[in-house]
Amino acid sequence: MDFNNELIHWYQNNKRELPWRNTSDAYVIWLSEIILQQTRVEQGLPYFYRFLEKYPTVSHFAAADEDEILKLWQGLGYYSRGRNMLKTALTVQTHYNGIFPRQYDQLIKLKGIGEYTAAAIASFSANETRAVVDGNVYRVLARYFGIEEPINSNQGKKTFQLTANNLLNKKISGLHNQAMMELGAMVCKPQNPACGICPVREGCYAFLHNAVRSLPVKLNKVKIRERYFNYFLVTDGDEVLINRRDEKDIWANMYDLPLIETQALLSPDELLLLPQVKEFFGDDIKIQEISQVKKHILTHQRLFVRLIKLKSKPVKLKDSWYYTTIGNMKKLAVPRIIFIFLKNIFNL
Ligand code: ADE
Repeated sequence: MDFNNELIHWYQNNKRELPWRNTSDAYVIWLSEIILQQTRVEQGLPYFYRFLEKYPTVSHFAAADEDEILKLWQGLGYYSRGRNMLKTALTVQTHYNGIFPRQYDQLIKLKGIGEYTAAAIASFSANETRAVVDGNVYRVLARYFGIEEPINSNQGKKTFQLTANNLLNKKISGLHNQAMMELGAMVCKPQNPACGICPVREGCYAFLHNAVRSLPVKLNKVKIRERYFNYFLVTDGDEVLINRRDEKDIWANMYDLPLIETQALLSPDELLLLPQVKEFFGDDIKIQEISQVKKHILTHQRLFVRLIKLKSKPVKLKDSWYYTTIGNMKKLAVPRIIFIFLKNIFNL
């Protein structure tokens, strides 16, 4: 049997039963695909069910407010996905009469939908002839065909897309795409691929040439930025001083605590001498407790986060700072790392 026949045969016998498979509802597929961007299936599943229960149709989604969506999204990271979903839901509601589009050319114009997601929704919902190329597919193609071009170079992206297009089983595009991704996720894994049970290993370049570990090739081009977040915990009775984050940085529009960011890890004494600390917290700042520094990894950033609990009150508040009750804070969208700090302190 050739690659495609082996692939489909294997898929039909080994696929995971996932709730977004066996549906042609483009809204449901879109929901699953956005959740699964940068998120593993096991982690994404409970979110998928929660979203679908709360917003059974795109019209329900379009009627939601952003805070509510971000709260439901809490813990998944990459919060711009949640925000873009609302924009897209509103566009679908107004321009498509609440009927989620199924054509690639329409999908690609929507916010948060790139080439991969448009191809996935169009092929899964309407069997449109579009080959998907995600991280799983890159791996399968690089290894099977021995493609050494970097998957994140412009030329490499073109080569992989062309290879996927040529391979696509056009009569069953949706099924073929799902099967390619499933093979990448379940067998042709990044580390310790299960070549022993792979249905296509006999034709696999990497398997035959002992190159499984060196493919795919990826250029290391992004520099990781290190940031030091000093959070100040100020309480007043059962109220806590919180901050609404602005649009321009990570965790846009979510809630955290008053923050002083530094370029390096400073000692508490050094920190208290900073002009912006003096401006907001005064000269006579009384620290009750300082937490350990926790490392938090994001895609292109490494955060070093600590919490400084104060006995004294700030002398001045930023516009984005205000007091709220612990009970209310529970209802707001808070970045995971902050939530964990607060949970330990307030038993949220
Ligand atoms: N990851 C992204 N999309 C997926 C899908 N449809 N099924 C399984 N894993 C996925």
